[in-house]
Amino acid sequence: MKEIPFTEKDVNDIVKMINESNYVVAFTGAGISTESGLADFRGKNGIWTRKEKGLPPKRGKHFDEVKPNAGHLALVALQDMGVLKFLISQNVDNLHLKSGIKPELLAELHGNYMYMKCIECDTQYKREEIGWDREIHGRVFRTEKQLDNQPVCPKCSGRIISSVINFNDPMPDKEMAISKKHTQKCDLMLVVGSSLSVFPAAGLPRKAQKNGTKLIIINIDSTPLDDVADIKLGIKAGPILTEVVNEIRA
Ligand code: APR
Repeated sequence: MKEIPFTEKDVNDIVKMINESNYVVAFTGAGISTESGLADFRGKNGIWTRKEKGLPPKRGKHFDEVKPNAGHLALVALQDMGVLKFLISQNVDNLHLKSGIKPELLAELHGNYMYMKCIECDTQYKREEIGWDREIHGRVFRTEKQLDNQPVCPKCSGRIISSVINFNDPMPDKEMAISKKHTQKCDLMLVVGSSLSVFPAAGLPRKAQKNGTKLIIINIDSTPLDDVADIKLGIKAGPILTEVVNEIRA
């Protein structure tokens, strides 16, 4: 990953915009987790990028092995300072929760690999809570066949599937609704590590910007919203977000 240094002005510009805002919402994608050792999808070495080039997969580490990085921790610091009001993430790697983001301040639009959910009553369960063993019961997306031996919902006996959504699966209603609510409410959206190319999730920053919300994008590669963003930095997220937090604290 090519590293471009950021300037003091870059940090000050972001801090100023944050200080002038009342309701900051962050929107993250796979790029925030590459500094933890995970692969993204469409970055230079992304899973789909490599596939398209006919290169062998380079998936990075397993979700179980990785730790939150400076970018995740900076968002937690902003949350704890009362600056970050809500976080919308497309990531399924559980690193935001692991880092200390409060579950009630987070919408995981594409699910979370740690959680299963009931297709009927929408209750989420950790795998072990309902005796779900991946080796025996599988990963189970919505479109896969239900097997007789798979645990059912302890509350309503509904079918249990992974909370992670697959291409063409419907978006989770609750997470989408709450994300739309906070998108409407925010006066600054901070996009970190997303190519903003997968919809409907990528429609949220677009909508915010159209509503007059200020937009900061920290993403190594370009995104379709670069031209309309108030600040776009094509750099690694962790180091600059750490500086931003230090500056706000100071
Ligand atoms: N700092 C900032 N940006 C980074 C970093 C980093 N350390 N590392 C990578 N990036 C950028 C890449 O340049 C890339 O543009 O993050 C972006 C990640 O984009 P994608 O790989 O497309 O990830 P995302 O936007 O989350 O993808 C959306 O696509 O296949 C799916 O379901 C999957 O949720 C995912 C969705």
